[in-house]
Amino acid sequence: MKKWLMAVMFGAVLVLGACGGGDDGASEEPAEDTAGETVDAGEAEDIYKQSCASCHGGDLEGGAGPALVDNSFSQDEIETIVEEGKPGMPGGLVSGDDLTTLAEWLSEQ
Ligand code: HEC
Repeated sequence: MKKWLMAVMFGAVLVLGACGGGDDGASEEPAEDTAGETVDAGEAEDIYKQSCASCHGGDLEGGAGPALVDNSFSQDEIETIVEEGKPGMPGGLVSGDDLTTLAEWLSEQ
């Protein structure tokens, strides 16, 4: 009963998301406008936690992978490492805008 209801609600969320809030009456969403200069640290951290923290630690302290605290990698280097992977680290975990956001943030850590 409840599971059924959850499934319907989840489906509705997906549909709404896919439509990008087209004609639901909400006025101009600023969502994509801010994707320019500033790094959204919160967003970058979310991406990190989802894709990297399992090996590099929740606070970049390292684990299965090396620590990334106080790293001296440039944004470009990080993008390349994430795209190509490393021994023991799969490539292509993050790509596109997410990778840019993540790499910019991580290069400042
Ligand atoms: C499956 C575990 C795993 C995951 C997930 C993972 N890494 Fe790694 N990472 C490693 C290992 C192991 C190394 C060390 C490879 C080596 O010795 O050359 C590494 C190396 C690195 C390095 C180079 C560090 C150095 O000191 O040489 C960077 C930067 C890096 N990872 C970033 C990331 C980012 C960003 C993510 C998330 C997109 C990520 N990693 C996800 C395991 C992982």
